[in-house]
Amino acid sequence: MAIKRVGVIGCGLMGSGIAQVAAQAGFPTIVVEANEALLERGLGGLRATLDGLAARGKLEARAKDEILGHVRGTVHLEDLSDVDLVVEAITENQPVKNETFARLDRICPPHAILASNTSSCNVTAMAAATKRPEQVLGLHFFNPVPLMKLVEVARTILTSEATVTTATEWVRALGKVPVQTKDSTAFIVNRLLVPYLLDAVRIYEGGIASLEDIDQAMKLGCGYPMGPFTLLDLVGLDTAMFVAEVMFEEFREPRYAPPPLLKRMVMAGHLGRKSGRGFYSY
Ligand SMILES: NC(=O)c1ccc[n+]([C@@H]2O[C@H](COP(=O)([O-])OP(=O)(O)OC[C@H]3O[C@@H](n4cnc5c(N)ncnc54)[C@H](O)[C@@H]3O)[C@@H](O)[C@H]2O)c1
Repeated sequence: MAIKRVGVIGCGLMGSGIAQVAAQAGFPTIVVEANEALLERGLGGLRATLDGLAARGKLEARAKDEILGHVRGTVHLEDLSDVDLVVEAITENQPVKNETFARLDRICPPHAILASNTSSCNVTAMAAATKRPEQVLGLHFFNPVPLMKLVEVARTILTSEATVTTATEWVRALGKVPVQTKDSTAFIVNRLLVPYLLDAVRIYEGGIASLEDIDQAMKLGCGYPMGPFTLLDLVGLDTAMFVAEVMFEEFREPRYAPPPLLKRMVMAGHLGRKSGRGFYSY
């Protein structure tokens, strides 16, 4: 099966980006939000991004109109009754995601593939909430979606080979690079990245080096584009702690446990760039 029509649920940070890249690749895309105000905010953000690209000469006006012409917004999940693939990008909450997948299963055509962009929820539980578990998988995009090339294609023990193949081809059609992984909490990238970030906090907490020197060391010593504290501030300390807690809950390994300093910074409201202060001040 080839994907022709796409649905995206949630038009926040990730959903708007996924809708944008799907529309840019020529797929008629329906975006579902929780209410009209949130839909307008999400689509407004998408329009502003395209306007910005056009203003900088990176997108022709005609191409911009064509992309916007491929996107339709709705607040009714029922409008996904004729799509071939849905990418769910709603709030990171397992029961809400499970319930959404159960509803999608009743609404979408029998052949449709249901994918989740979750970072840490259990895709197998979402699959089990449907009567088509072999057509459910994770498609994990990275932020900012239009710029980041990688998509982790995460199969559960129930996903069929045909579903993986079709979804992987669709990821390539978006101009992205797929990597294959299993539905295991945090997949590949966060499984490696999160303990690294937590260890950086532990080194700092232990008084071994300054924030600036740890960042500098990882940039110049490993060729990373930014150090761990700059990255933590960008990701959001609350988001990093949330993912760490889910990983700790799953694997029960100390290296995934959020260090005391990280917890206290979140309690203090020092969440990173978004709150104006994290490990650095903005
Ligand atoms: N932010 C990241 O860097 C990142 C990266 C990869 C994956 N993810 C995952 O993507 C998903 C979305 O994250 P985000 O950062 O875009 O969050 P976000 O809060 O920016 O967006 C979520 C959107 O979903 C909407 N929503 C919630 N419930 C809904 C429902 N029932 N129906 C329709 N819309 C609904 C919300 O109104 C909101 O606009 C999460 O599962 C997250 O783990 C996030």
